Amino acid sequence: MKMNDKSLAINEGRPVSKEIIPIHKPYLDEEDFQAIDKTARSTFISGNGPQCMQFERELGEYLGMKHVLFTNSCTTALDLVFKAKNFPAGSEVIVPNFTYTSTALGPLLNNLKIRLCDVYEDNGNINPEKIEALINKKTVAIVPVDYAGNPADMDIINEIAKKHNLFVVQDAAQSIGAVYKGRKVGTYADVTCFSFHGTKNITTGEGGALVTNDDELVDRAIFIREKGTNKQSFLIDNKNRGFYEYVTIGSSFVQSNILGALGCTQLKKTDWITAERTRIAKFYYENLKDLPNIKFNRVTDSAVPNWHIFGILVPPEHRYWIMDALRAEGVMANVHYTPLHRNKFYMGLATDEEMQGSMKYFNQLLRLPIYPSLTHEEMEKVVEATRKVMQALL
Ligand SMILES: Cc1ncc(COP(=O)(O)O)c(C=O)c1O
Repeated sequence: MKMNDKSLAINEGRPVSKEIIPIHKPYLDEEDFQAIDKTARSTFISGNGPQCMQFERELGEYLGMKHVLFTNSCTTALDLVFKAKNFPAGSEVIVPNFTYTSTALGPLLNNLKIRLCDVYEDNGNINPEKIEALINKKTVAIVPVDYAGNPADMDIINEIAKKHNLFVVQDAAQSIGAVYKGRKVGTYADVTCFSFHGTKNITTGEGGALVTNDDELVDRAIFIREKGTNKQSFLIDNKNRGFYEYVTIGSSFVQSNILGALGCTQLKKTDWITAERTRIAKFYYENLKDLPNIKFNRVTDSAVPNWHIFGILVPPEHRYWIMDALRAEGVMANVHYTPLHRNKFYMGLATDEEMQGSMKYFNQLLRLPIYPSLTHEEMEKVVEATRKVMQALL
């Protein structure tokens, strides 16, 4: 078969799937709908209510961490960390070049500078060998990202951070439930930030969390999250007869109580969702591994990913054709993350030459649908379409 073969749907052949198989779907069940309904009917629907606090307690227990602050996104959780740390203006933060803009926005919204670090060309995670060259007297923090739910090399990163006295904020937007060296993601950095956006493994529609054992940081972050007020203490103990004060500068990063309730029911399903995604990832791997023109994301040593994303690495010169051909077959394959330095806002911070790992990875990467509600028939169709398209290139 060749690229112009008439049996390919891109050339008007019959598609493998008549129905489009979407790239992601949240997993929501009856328990989730009931929790939303019950909390809405309780009429406590505003921010930081009892269900939000329950979710924070339960997520803390799940991770074995002292403090969890539920926020309205991972973006605001990252912003909140840097607001609470209050590093001197102009300090520098090392950020991987292959990430979502939010990783960089945390520092940038707080008058800090970012330094872009290149990533591994075979899994998109920050390449620790490139970190030390970016460190100088102004460097205050590193923000590693667990791309695709595959943990960054946290031991090596923490060692570098310790040597240079740097703060580590793990952007674990994609990696709830993943494990690194026997411990859950969320237990390795000074602060870890999660996302519960609708595309993530567990979701509150929009949402995020700041996780840490740092008491001082949390004391400040609690005020900042609630518009610079001490309303939290009034919600917890109500000793001040409903009064609270404006104690500092802040913003509004709290979550609705309805979403707290959803967080609780979603959290219970985290490990089951990881297991379902792992089952699908294994199926894809077993049924595609013999294709000579496909490679897979390298899993970090001693890590167990949560399979937030299933990435295949394909010949770069044909990547967009492969994506279009898969879509024509009914499989919503997708590209991901244009490296930061290739975006209008970040242009000029680095060159392709300096960011070879990011460029190589980006140019090869395609994502396939993976989520618990994918049926066995759909999984088979994803495999069939991928084999059909990739064989046309052999
Ligand atoms: C690595 C990373 N960080 C941060 C975010 C932002 O998450 P949120 O939408 O919860 O703000 C994303 C979103 O996909 C992400 O992939």
